Amino acid sequence: MRYESIPNTLFIKNRSNFIAQMKPNTIAILTANDVKHNNADDVMGFVQNNDLFYLSGVDQEETILVLYPDALKEKNKAMVFIKETNAHIKIWDGEKLTKEQAALISGIERVEHVQDFEMVLQYMAFEADGFYLGHNEHLKRVTKDQETQQDRMIKWCKEKYPLHEYYRAAKITRDLRPVKSIEEIKLLQKAADISVSSFIRVLKACKPMMKEYELEAELTYNLVKSGAAHHAFQPIVASGKNACALHYNTNDDRCNNGEMILLDFGVCYANYNSDTTRCIPVNGKFSKRQKEVYSAVLRCLKEGSKFLIPGILPSDYEAKMVCLVEEELIHLGLLNADAIAVQDPKNPLYKKYFMHGTAHYIGLDVHDVGLYSRKIEAGMVFTCEPGIYIPEEGIGCRLENDYLINAKGNVNLTAAMPIEIEEIERLMNTKKI
Ligand code: GLY
Ligand code: MN
Ligand code: MN
Repeated sequence: MRYESIPNTLFIKNRSNFIAQMKPNTIAILTANDVKHNNADDVMGFVQNNDLFYLSGVDQEETILVLYPDALKEKNKAMVFIKETNAHIKIWDGEKLTKEQAALISGIERVEHVQDFEMVLQYMAFEADGFYLGHNEHLKRVTKDQETQQDRMIKWCKEKYPLHEYYRAAKITRDLRPVKSIEEIKLLQKAADISVSSFIRVLKACKPMMKEYELEAELTYNLVKSGAAHHAFQPIVASGKNACALHYNTNDDRCNNGEMILLDFGVCYANYNSDTTRCIPVNGKFSKRQKEVYSAVLRCLKEGSKFLIPGILPSDYEAKMVCLVEEELIHLGLLNADAIAVQDPKNPLYKKYFMHGTAHYIGLDVHDVGLYSRKIEAGMVFTCEPGIYIPEEGIGCRLENDYLINAKGNVNLTAAMPIEIEEIERLMNTKKI
């Protein structure tokens, strides 16, 4: 792995919390994600299933985790099944995890080869009353035409054991994953730190007439050099009016003199993610109007992030942020207070310039799992990302940081990323790379 090894105490603790929520006499089975193939014989890379990773730390394809806390035999209480290597794999792909390595990573003593999974399961299955299986329960999951390993496991298990009870493992992990452990916070901080150095590289590389993808290349260079696995998501490098398309990521336009560029990018380190947005002037100097819009969004970020504290409901936080943005839209001359007073509450006027939510959980997923009907708690990590988009002026501005909630309020994990206008201009006008 590119990342430093993670103490297995994290996965031992996660399993113990997971098991505490399982119904009596049930077995949990978690599977690895598929390796996605492209047109021919190449693959698009492997990203581990986050629930499996959370509970085992095993970051290899074709892994299966089985937990049976009420098993009669001690050795059946937890086991990991891993892909067995062979001479062919060694020659073409290199080393795979040994049983000893998988045991060390996960803190699970019993490690078997994946071809033995069905037989081993059968020896315990009829002792148990039910199964917990993994499934993607994300609100915005994309499922069209994609059968996953989880779908296949559900189908297989229900065919083979039709009279058992079935339960959702994701219902438990979505309760546990939002509150981060010390070990996880360190990894999130590392991802945030790499984002900071990537942004500073962009500030020093940016000049008029560059293509947006040249700045994307600076982000990519820095994250790979820093030991991150990949971008947390396809980075957005959007100059001028492109910044008004919220998920623009073709990054193939020219950065013209006088425009502002929005960069929304994240780093995935050890499967943990950062998610940050900054806006910079192509020529190193914000115009008067860009400064006005930028300062308005920055005030919303500074004030709004103060509401990300224990005890508040995400919907109440979002309502407070809306008030801040609305006020700024009036000051910018984009909205009129009288018109707001009589607006249709179902179709508020601010939506013309500000059309997205401003806080999401972040962790093993960028838009991490967790219920938004749950009050914010210490240990959770949220983004804060207000924005104002004015296509008719060719200006789109969003600013985004990642905040760890603590008992007193929050800590900005991305505090080292330059955000003040003067600092951005100063860095852009010092030594270039
Ligand atoms: N980059 C996606 C987001 O900010 O949520
Ligand atoms: Mn973002
Ligand atoms: Mn975000």
